[in-house]
Amino acid sequence: MAPCRFSMSIIINFIIITLFPFSVTAQESSNRNVTLGSSIVANSNSTWTSPSGEFAFGFREVSPGAFLLAIWFDQLTNKTIVWSANRDEPVPVGSTVRLSSDGTLELFDQRNRWLWANQATSGTVAYAAMLDTGNLVLASNTSAILWQSFDFPTDTLLPTQVLNKEGALYSSISPTNFSKGRFKFTLQADGDLVLISRSLQSEEHLSTYWSSDTIESGFQLIFNNFGSINLVRQNGTLLRPLFESGPLVGQFYHRLKLDHDGVLRHYVHPKSANSSLAWSVRDFEPSNICRAVMERHTGGGACGFNSYCSIQAEGRPSCDCPLGYYPRGGGLSGCTPEFVQHRCDHQQGQDAQSFGLMQMFNIDWPFVDYTKLRNVEEDTCRQSCLSDCFCAIAIYSDRGCFKKSLPFSNGRFDSGFAGKALIKFRINKTLTSNPDTTASGRESSTTTLTTTLSVLLGCAGLLFLLSSFFFVFYLKRTKSMMVKRSHVRPAGVSMISSFSFKEVQEAANGFNEELGRGACSIVYRGTLKNDGKVVAVKKLHKIFEHADDEFKAEVSSISRTNHKNLVQLLGYCDEGQNRILVYEFMTNGSLATFLFQKSPRPSWYTRVQIAFAIARGICYLHEDCSVPIIHCDIKPQNVLLDETFAPKIADFGLAKLLKADQTRTITGIRGTKGYVAPEWFRNMPITVKVDVYSFGIMLLELMCCRRSYEPDVEDEGEAVLADWAYDCYQQGALDLLVVGDEEARSDMKTLEIYVKTAIWCIQEDSTLRPHMNIVMHMLQGSMQVPTPPDPTAFVR
Ligand SMILES: *[C@@H]1O[C@H](CO)[C@@H](O)[C@H](O)[C@H]1NC(C)=O
Ligand SMILES: *[C@@H]1O[C@H](CO)[C@@H](O)[C@H](O)[C@H]1NC(C)=O
Ligand SMILES: *[C@@H]1O[C@H](CO)[C@@H](O)[C@H](O)[C@H]1NC(C)=O
Ligand SMILES: *[C@@H]1O[C@H](CO)[C@@H](O)[C@H](O)[C@H]1NC(C)=O
Ligand SMILES: *[C@@H]1O[C@H](CO)[C@@H](O)[C@H](O)[C@H]1NC(C)=O
Ligand SMILES: *[C@@H]1O[C@H](CO)[C@@H](O)[C@H](O)[C@H]1NC(C)=O
Ligand SMILES: *[C@@H]1O[C@H](CO)[C@@H](O)[C@H](O)[C@H]1NC(C)=O
Ligand SMILES: *[C@@H]1O[C@H](CO)[C@@H](O)[C@H](O)[C@H]1NC(C)=O
Repeated sequence: MAPCRFSMSIIINFIIITLFPFSVTAQESSNRNVTLGSSIVANSNSTWTSPSGEFAFGFREVSPGAFLLAIWFDQLTNKTIVWSANRDEPVPVGSTVRLSSDGTLELFDQRNRWLWANQATSGTVAYAAMLDTGNLVLASNTSAILWQSFDFPTDTLLPTQVLNKEGALYSSISPTNFSKGRFKFTLQADGDLVLISRSLQSEEHLSTYWSSDTIESGFQLIFNNFGSINLVRQNGTLLRPLFESGPLVGQFYHRLKLDHDGVLRHYVHPKSANSSLAWSVRDFEPSNICRAVMERHTGGGACGFNSYCSIQAEGRPSCDCPLGYYPRGGGLSGCTPEFVQHRCDHQQGQDAQSFGLMQMFNIDWPFVDYTKLRNVEEDTCRQSCLSDCFCAIAIYSDRGCFKKSLPFSNGRFDSGFAGKALIKFRINKTLTSNPDTTASGRESSTTTLTTTLSVLLGCAGLLFLLSSFFFVFYLKRTKSMMVKRSHVRPAGVSMISSFSFKEVQEAANGFNEELGRGACSIVYRGTLKNDGKVVAVKKLHKIFEHADDEFKAEVSSISRTNHKNLVQLLGYCDEGQNRILVYEFMTNGSLATFLFQKSPRPSWYTRVQIAFAIARGICYLHEDCSVPIIHCDIKPQNVLLDETFAPKIADFGLAKLLKADQTRTITGIRGTKGYVAPEWFRNMPITVKVDVYSFGIMLLELMCCRRSYEPDVEDEGEAVLADWAYDCYQQGALDLLVVGDEEARSDMKTLEIYVKTAIWCIQEDSTLRPHMNIVMHMLQGSMQVPTPPDPTAFVR
């Protein structure tokens, strides 16, 4: 609070504090005395309510079969709990709370075992009462309060409640688990009012992340009946307001709560019975918990180990896991790597090629480094981390390289942080299960395959050449992987048929039923003579002249693929000038036709299924084939749908077969943002990441049911889907992408995950794009999708 906002509020508060002392008896508002011997049984629905009916005391079921003995706002739809006797140990059905004949409030379980009772009182209790303030009291026959729930707060303070020295609020573990959590709000014995993070295991204090700086002068924290929360001195004068007065207590419910995320919030809620109303946050501290919590020695920070924290509205921390890590449990419990780290008993660097570095901007893990390199290039920093078995993250900032090992702590988003975080992840999903086989397998079967490729991109009939790219695949196969594959199809044995041209011609009925035409081929319908199977016959144009054995080698590599999301190659013909491929026939045509039809719109559920299945297919091509296959032309026209609308990727492996016309140039493609990754235009190496890019664009099309480029839309900003989607994402208005699509709008969570993943895929910097196996993790929710950067922000 600004120290200069003095004058009126302080004077008013002073008057309030001094002139309106709180009720010291239970008498005035209580007209419903609970007599000795009364009891309530869990699950009976009976409660002790306050005279106005605003508060109730009784049992609340917080998870199936588990009850809290609690006090709550009884008039609100959500019946917000403000106090509990047994937050750490919910009790089962049949448990009983009883005001015994000697005036003790006692809790027993269903087998009559004693679990809890109020502290001993100094006088004789005559009755109990639930007051309209939310205070449950035990009172004497003269209505003097002998015990009150207000003296034993859990995580909430209410108007007229006072927090004395050494009194404390403890956050809950989560919104649904009321056990004591990691954060504590307390007025210390020295007079300082503080927010503290603590270890759940040892209860050790880890950091003080907010303080009123009132050592020696703070005496009580008073939530007055005017909705202000003030720290006062011993003589009763105002020391400093914590939160200024809110709307009138008469018309609004108020509460101060230390939320499970560690933020202390003042909530208000209009009293008028209107179900559309909800609690709103009036004030909160600290303003940015991500930066405030600094656990320099032990502890993981606001979001827990290996995570990073970014601040949202109302001081809410959003906890995310970096790529390659998944959440351990609830929001604040940190992240675990989903891959096996470097093995330090391996020779230095031997493992390095299995890892990549994902860079993230504006994200810092300050403090604990196990080593620092000064005055180095970024590349040195990268290499140093990649080849170091301890290194899990390196922060490169100001020519410094700060290396951190697991677990790393205090991760936070910081827009002012100019460096970048390099996060190590395993490229390869095969986990090292048996180090011995892996090691020896590596020795014996490492081969290097070098291929020079000219690649064709057929995009809307556009055919062009891109100067030769050099592909180098380091193919490393372990013994275990080879064994696994051999179950699928014996290596080297081709299962496909070789047809003569005459056979193909007969099957295709003289090539008279054309199904489609691409830049480099025409597809005809056909029927196989021997088993009557309907097939698609793809005739490649003559411009693709390859040596015989090269064609055979490629066909054989395609034929070795076997995945339910890939179109199966059945046979080929290689006779004279004719290069023909025979595929299984897909009854439901291409995804493009299905997706972009005017009506009916394909169902949301189908689209989500299709998107995931395509990811699986591409992932297989990239990672499970003996030689990684880059498709180079992922687009809805190249995804076919079988009779159950399961998608199958077509035309993979053709990039190598097709030799492009050398004279065409790239024109008019840049502006359209087709499916083509920027590397193609920038003379940069073509890697599997070009498919990731194309997949990202197609994923957006699947989500939004529209083409990636629609020049005729009314709003110019919506013409390029990739730009529009990012704009909507950034403005938190993803619903705009699915206007009129009720199914999608009722599943915003999935939409958000898919769109965020797509934005990662379409990063212009190919190194930022995730590998397809990570994309799959993101889509299926097994990995939290970090906040993606602007796709165009980091162009190298
Ligand atoms: C509650 O009990 C007190 C003390 O026995 C008594 O003075 C008061 O009148 C009672 N109130 C009601 C509404 O019964
Ligand atoms: C409590 O109330 C719920 C819903 O109002 C009802 O289904 C349930 O049977 C009640 N239980 C008892 C023991 O009355
Ligand atoms: C209250 O209880 C005390 C004993 O605990 C008794 O002496 C006194 O007479 C009672 N007063 C009333 C008003 O019942
Ligand atoms: C609540 O969290 C505590 C501590 O993590 C755990 O021991 C307990 O089982 C949780 N309770 C429920 C109902 O999940
Ligand atoms: C209360 O105490 C403070 C500091 O101890 C002092 O400055 C102030 O004058 C006192 N106010 C009253 C009304 O006693
Ligand atoms: C709730 O509030 C809204 C807006 O103030 C009003 O339109 C509506 O009629 C209210 N509903 C009830 C049940 O009072
Ligand atoms: C009640 O709680 C649910 C779930 O926490 C929340 O979505 C809803 O908005 C709340 N309703 C009100 C009126 O506060
Ligand atoms: C995948 O990981 C395994 C085990 O670490 C390794 O042997 C293999 O070479 C890796 N494959 C690729 C393509 O990096």
